[in-house]
Amino acid sequence: MTAPASQFETVSQENRVFPPPAAFARQAHIKSLEQYREMYARSIADPEKFWADVAGELHWIQKWHTVLNSKNAPFYKWFEGGVTNLCYNCLDRHLHGATRNKAAIIFEGEQGDQRVLTYADLHREVCLFANVLKSLGVKKGDIVMLYMAMVPELAIAVLACARIGAPHSVIFGGFSSESIKDRVNDCQAKFVITSDAGYRRGKVLPLKHTVDEGIAECPSIQKVLVVAREPQKQLHPVTMKEGRDVWYHEAVVGQSRHCEAARQDAEDLLFILYTSGSTGKPKGIMHTTGGYMTFAYLTAKYIFDLKPEDVYWCTADIGWVTGHSYILYGPLQNAATVVMFEGVPNWPENDRFWQIVEKYGVTVFYTAPTAIRACMKWGDVWPQKHDLSSLRLLGSVGEPINPEAWMWYHNVIGGGRCPIVDTWWQTETGGIMITPLPGAIATKPGSATVPFFGIEPAVLSDDGQDVRAGILAIKKPWPGMMRGIWGDPGRFKTTYFAKWSGKYYFPGDGARKDDDGNYWILGRVDDVVNVSAHRIGTAELESVYVEHPSVAESAVVGIPHELKGQALISFVTVKQGKEAGPDLIRELNDLVAKKIGKFALPEKIIFSADLPKTRSGKIMRRLLRDIAEGRALGNVTTLADPSVIEALKEKYSTTES
Ligand code: WT7
Repeated sequence: MTAPASQFETVSQENRVFPPPAAFARQAHIKSLEQYREMYARSIADPEKFWADVAGELHWIQKWHTVLNSKNAPFYKWFEGGVTNLCYNCLDRHLHGATRNKAAIIFEGEQGDQRVLTYADLHREVCLFANVLKSLGVKKGDIVMLYMAMVPELAIAVLACARIGAPHSVIFGGFSSESIKDRVNDCQAKFVITSDAGYRRGKVLPLKHTVDEGIAECPSIQKVLVVAREPQKQLHPVTMKEGRDVWYHEAVVGQSRHCEAARQDAEDLLFILYTSGSTGKPKGIMHTTGGYMTFAYLTAKYIFDLKPEDVYWCTADIGWVTGHSYILYGPLQNAATVVMFEGVPNWPENDRFWQIVEKYGVTVFYTAPTAIRACMKWGDVWPQKHDLSSLRLLGSVGEPINPEAWMWYHNVIGGGRCPIVDTWWQTETGGIMITPLPGAIATKPGSATVPFFGIEPAVLSDDGQDVRAGILAIKKPWPGMMRGIWGDPGRFKTTYFAKWSGKYYFPGDGARKDDDGNYWILGRVDDVVNVSAHRIGTAELESVYVEHPSVAESAVVGIPHELKGQALISFVTVKQGKEAGPDLIRELNDLVAKKIGKFALPEKIIFSADLPKTRSGKIMRRLLRDIAEGRALGNVTTLADPSVIEALKEKYSTTES
């Protein structure tokens, strides 16, 4: 039942529908809406049977006795009694037959250097690496921190940890030494793997140096293993601490190429990944082996429609969950060829992505809306320089994609022929939850569409009523779900399971469900603003702005307002060469009035050359709210470019409302 008075107003209208192209559907794993519906119905009617069948496609040393144990909910357990090894499922399983010498990883360095590792190569390198870890004293259950560049050794090191049962915790290479310290101390890691240096935009990042600073006050650390980015030359001088620090290229000499995969219980910890929450302290999200493995495998297979001949490229960094699930564990379990790229989309020039797509004949391309919008801003000339005809499927992840960017992605990158999978999920969910299946589900620009198999979402009000627009909930456990927050089981319960009296998982996102049953993610619930009792998803307002030809990007925040409850402040970035002035303000207001309604007009539009973003590209709305409310600025250490915020502050105080 739809509650009569929805707390959220349904706002902008987007009616375009793109059915799966017939040629795509014919060859797809999931070929039709009927097939999706039949499988989905089965996955919901009997999830234990469904997931047991999927897990049965993978290698288990010992079969589970219980598929799902809900006795101690929300601390669910999957595949209890099962013993397996995820590294084995990524590599050893493919060493027979045609996949043995198939490219597993095609690496493109920032400088244009290239390396190809076949499945046999990757297996050998992982075994060597695992033996080095063992020689340093790493044992099953010991937590290993990784702080590296996006180089094959990062993939190798992660897989080596999984092979010997040492949980890994990867820290994105852009984090500061303080962040390393906090994370190491939180999980009491005993080992760090790092590189001497890495490249970023042609500059050299002193990774080992940052680790040294970070772990200076971390007594838990026993050894630091250092991989040379280019063993022949010293990219950046490093100080090796006697007794603690070891060069990989020295330690590997004489190691065996064989290393048995450890017996991992299905619920043994696979990794911890730190992510920000509503409080200042990052949460160590825990994922275990058997359920995560099964979920990553199936989502990658069906959502990216992986086939033996595909060249799959996910542009994320392995430091984020997207890299864990959809550079490594998902595609490798499917024996895919994975492109791994060290650099950024606009170095040395704005066409780096498209150059790589052409160079390797990428068929499946998965990136974030923020990258798509940046490319859109740089102009069509850059992709047009390249032959992108190898592409057959595009993906989007990380934030709501506005219809304008979706259409550009579809037309300019996909040549109008590639389905787009807009995949909604989180660090906490382990894998993709709401998404089109590209051969079966008609897409709508801006909608993540339908739930994946076994996933039962709902859109609820605060008191748990079904509403058209409200708060996203996941009603049933799924194999890839987080198993807790490291060291803080209480916080796990209060953050994710306290709402709706512990019955459902609360992801923290707002959502809307349309008449066709498609889900539209409206952004975090803390980004939803209530203006005169009209709740407006800031993402929807932002997507209206970027429909204007002059606008590159925008971010809308809510601030307290005496009469309206809350009011909106819009920060807008204009495209190069476009004029930001009173005319544009008028046009934007007209557009909002037309697409949403006058109630959604902001108090102020602030033009800004740039928006404050984290290094992973997320707009830091918290900082915009601080500026808009004239508060002292919160923590700015995760900002990619701190100068942006100073310029904005200046700008805000001089903008008339
Ligand atoms: C949050 C999770 C999922 C891997 C990368 C980010 C937002 C993610 C979408 C999407 C709308 C999305 C949500 C979510 N988000 N994907 N397709 N459409 N919003 O992982 O850092 O854990 O962030 O990103 O708000 O809660 P994360």
